[in-house]
Amino acid sequence: MSASEASRESALAGAAGAGAFSVGLLGFGTVGSAFAALLQERAPQIEAITGRRPVLTGALTRSSGSFHEILDGAEAIVELIGGIEPAREYVLAALASGRHVITANKQLLSQHGEELFDAARRAGVQLRFEAAVAGVVPVIRVLCESLAGAHVERIHGIVNGTTNFVLSEMAGGSSYEQALAEAQRRGFAEADPSEDVSGKDAAAKMAILARLAFGTPVHLDQVSYEGIEHLQTDDLQYARELGLGLKLVGAAERRDGGLSVRVHPAFLYSGHPLASVNGPYNAVTVESQAITEITMSGPGAGGPQTASAVLGDLVSVMLPPAAGGDRHGAPRGLGVSSPDPLPLVEDVESAFYIHMEVADRPGALATVAQVLGERGASIKSVVQHGLGDNARLVMVIHPLLESRLRDALLRISELDFLRSTPRAIRVIEEEFT
Ligand SMILES: NC(=O)c1ccc[n+]([C@@H]2O[C@H](COP(=O)([O-])OP(=O)(O)OC[C@H]3O[C@@H](n4cnc5c(N)ncnc54)[C@H](OP(=O)(O)O)[C@@H]3O)[C@@H](O)[C@H]2O)c1
Repeated sequence: MSASEASRESALAGAAGAGAFSVGLLGFGTVGSAFAALLQERAPQIEAITGRRPVLTGALTRSSGSFHEILDGAEAIVELIGGIEPAREYVLAALASGRHVITANKQLLSQHGEELFDAARRAGVQLRFEAAVAGVVPVIRVLCESLAGAHVERIHGIVNGTTNFVLSEMAGGSSYEQALAEAQRRGFAEADPSEDVSGKDAAAKMAILARLAFGTPVHLDQVSYEGIEHLQTDDLQYARELGLGLKLVGAAERRDGGLSVRVHPAFLYSGHPLASVNGPYNAVTVESQAITEITMSGPGAGGPQTASAVLGDLVSVMLPPAAGGDRHGAPRGLGVSSPDPLPLVEDVESAFYIHMEVADRPGALATVAQVLGERGASIKSVVQHGLGDNARLVMVIHPLLESRLRDALLRISELDFLRSTPRAIRVIEEEFT
């Protein structure tokens, strides 16, 4: 018997006695095995809080367990398989048969959220997924419960710990390749990190947050995302001279009467709450007129950390309604569409950092300023590095529509003194000092 099979057997050893709350677990990997261990360890405390002792009555892996037997013996199902199928089929079957479901599956929620919310509502059971976004940081609960009455204007999040670690290393002088290799060595990045570094993982999480904060269904396909693969160490160095730090930021915000949801690298001024979040951490800032700004931060991944968020959801579904539980689809408001869903908007204004390698000719800066000016952009700050053929112009421009910026960059790249394609990175201008 392998170590994983032995730990699964041991987690299932305690029979569900009278009054026990039976939990069926789908998936016994990094998070599933940590959840099983934590459940056993915390069962007495959970019994003290909820009046019932949670007991694991079945665990499914690829090679062991039967989904239907686990479902029959469980009051709640915890889905920690990941991916779309068979997770979707199992979650829908569990909801339809009246079981509460807890999942950490951001792919599933960002692509089939509406189907799952409808199934939970129809069956009058709870679907909870705190661990799907920002690991142990309780952002779902805060958005759906504490801030349920707030008119959220904007969410900014560092919701991928792998990329935040890589960018922190690059800020210290490492190249992208060195930083990624270090992340893999320390277990912060998977062998295939493409979902993380491309921004797709963060996009799935932003789709979920946007759905909850703005009551507007957002599918992963509707979130535009850019990753960190093309960033260069000198972008971070020049940015520091301009008083900026570089993060992979997810944004969901009201813009021009609609909702913009996107993920991209962004420079932040030091007064922004996300600017000081370094290493493999996650943080989410929520802005609303009534609350100004709140920021939550903490570990974004890891077996025990994620398992802790899953266990918090389990306690919530075990609580009787009078104690804060809700049999009719909780957290309250979760999955409820706004009566006025917002249209999704794509072309939004941003301030930009622009990096250009230029031959040091008289009038180069004036020509670039003219091209930008013709498209409505004005320069906020500019630094010139080097002389002669090694000169670089690094500038920050005031907010401009992204389509106009693209047009300006195309024109600038045709100028005869440009030595390579100009690079542009968005700048988030809010500061809360
Ligand atoms: N790892 C993290 O730090 C983290 C953080 C936040 C959220 N999450 C989310 O948590 C979920 C689980 O992640 P994880 O890292 O624990 O994954 P994992 O280590 O790959 O474990 C997946 C488990 O699911 C089982 N499984 C896979 N396909 C299956 C199938 N077709 N039928 C039955 N069982 C199947 C696997 O079985 P075998 O044991 O037989 O392979 C394994 O036990 C994912 O949704 C992930 O996005 C993870």
